[in-house]
Amino acid sequence: MGKLNRGNIIFLESVDSTNRYAVDNFANFADFSLIVADEQSSGRGRRGKKWYSPKGKNFYGSFIIKNWPYKAYQASWLAGLGAMESIKLSTPGSNLWIKWPNDIFCGEKKIAGILNEVKSSSKNRFEGIVLGLGINVNMTVEDTVTVDQPCTSIAIEGGKNLNIKNFSEKVCRILKRLYSTSLKNGIEKIYNEWKKSNRLIGKKISLISENGRKVSGTVEDLSFDGRILLGTEGNTESFHSGDIEIDKSFFKIGENNAYS
Ligand code: BTN
Repeated sequence: MGKLNRGNIIFLESVDSTNRYAVDNFANFADFSLIVADEQSSGRGRRGKKWYSPKGKNFYGSFIIKNWPYKAYQASWLAGLGAMESIKLSTPGSNLWIKWPNDIFCGEKKIAGILNEVKSSSKNRFEGIVLGLGINVNMTVEDTVTVDQPCTSIAIEGGKNLNIKNFSEKVCRILKRLYSTSLKNGIEKIYNEWKKSNRLIGKKISLISENGRKVSGTVEDLSFDGRILLGTEGNTESFHSGDIEIDKSFFKIGENNAYS
């Protein structure tokens, strides 16, 4: 498959949530459209949380995929890698990694989050996927204080502010390329890349499951069927979703100054 020329970037001044807007107006957009807003009044985060979306500071975008031949959860690999690659372009040498299920971290701080949503018809027929990417672009250190967890931005890491419209074009190009790669080389290729970018395998973590249960153990694998496998005292438990807690020792610097 050659270059994907379909799909436009639609810039909105303000919206409640680009994901909500993309899902509700799905039929009006061409495949591979990217809806970007300058601000969101009700940005959606994972597990019902709000995504802090101040005006003109960050990238809030929803990418529409109408022909998704894989399982819905597999789209999160594409979105995670796409966000990470977009950030990497402006922060070369930074210590970027993915924390399952799909937070993008720079060292110890979160720099981007992903929330994908499935679009179904009224008869519950699958119509496509909306990849929701929130990437911290121009937030200052002072701005990050308002966020409920340690976070950083491209400007903080890369030393300069970016034009959000130009950045959106890069994100769109990268997502289209990853999609083409998945068709050409298989979704396994995207999965392998995504898994390589995760740092959790072999590490001790705690997972807070959907029902609030806290399970501590060592991560054994991030499986192709979307689960995290956690080794706990002679047992292996697996989870499709959850929040991961990592302790400070996770970030200890090794001999070569690389995060181990
Ligand atoms: C997370 O909680 O880590 C996921 C955050 C995802 C936020 C993005 S911003 C663009 C898109 N529109 C939304 O309402 N949410 C996603």
